[in-house]
Amino acid sequence: MSHLIRIRDLDKEFISTIISEASHFLKNNKIKVDSHKELEGLTVANLFFEPSTRTRASFELAAKKMGAHTINLDINTSSRKKGESIKDTIQTLEAMNVNLFVVRDANQGICDEIATYLRSGLLINAGESTVSHPTQAILDLFTILQVHQKLNNLKIALVGDIAHSRVAASDIEIFTMFGVKDIRLICPKHLQPKEVLPNTKVFHNLAEGISKADVIIALRIQKERFMSNEEIPDEKSYFDQFGITESSLALASPQVMIMHPGPMNRGVEISDSVADGSHSHIVRQVTYGMAIRMAILKKLSSFL
Ligand code: CP
Repeated sequence: MSHLIRIRDLDKEFISTIISEASHFLKNNKIKVDSHKELEGLTVANLFFEPSTRTRASFELAAKKMGAHTINLDINTSSRKKGESIKDTIQTLEAMNVNLFVVRDANQGICDEIATYLRSGLLINAGESTVSHPTQAILDLFTILQVHQKLNNLKIALVGDIAHSRVAASDIEIFTMFGVKDIRLICPKHLQPKEVLPNTKVFHNLAEGISKADVIIALRIQKERFMSNEEIPDEKSYFDQFGITESSLALASPQVMIMHPGPMNRGVEISDSVADGSHSHIVRQVTYGMAIRMAILKKLSSFL
């Protein structure tokens, strides 16, 4: 084990260790206030070349809570804006003894590329293009495991832009690895995945897809991808056909968990009343995300 780039590079044992470790950082569903100094003497660089609130803030807070030095670079504050190659950026930071590199970038393949430049530092993928968001998938699994200890009989529905969602791609990988056999991918036709994977079924009708679902994960819709489509010409059409509302809850399991990786477009993919309602685990996902990232940083630091 070295870099954390995608779910399929990991095994169940590694992910289970992260999940078990993360629960030690929580008390009554909140991050414990105890001081953890597992990362003392290490430096964590957050390199976010795409926008982020949750992932970036949680990695930074997680690193600081465990005693690491942190630095944050984004596209506007780094020399990449002046044309510096990613290779030179990484090698420059490694020359300053940065140990862990948390990277978000719009370019597919960037994490594998950075991994080839690192001499001793380790990389954590914090969201790569449309293909991979492994730490989100681990926190999504953790959130479900707080409610359901057995996953094999669960019906999990992902709703939204499946074709371009790195969250959906990594969630499908992790849910399949942990034995979920009924994964429903609910989306307009033009946003369906290119291939239908084992254990997944594509639906273009929300009511059919969420029928008796135990978990519904609403995904962020990227406006540029559906505004020009004839079937779904605007946000209201999307909300009318695929928005998760109180009437969706009536079709799902009575104890359905509602999740969303954020950032949410309220009134587009989810109604206010569902986002803030009693079935919603969305705020809890954020807290769990920080515990998961603390566990990941601690685990990877043991390989340095
Ligand atoms: N879920 C997620 O990746 O959110 P951010 O873009 O705010 O990090």
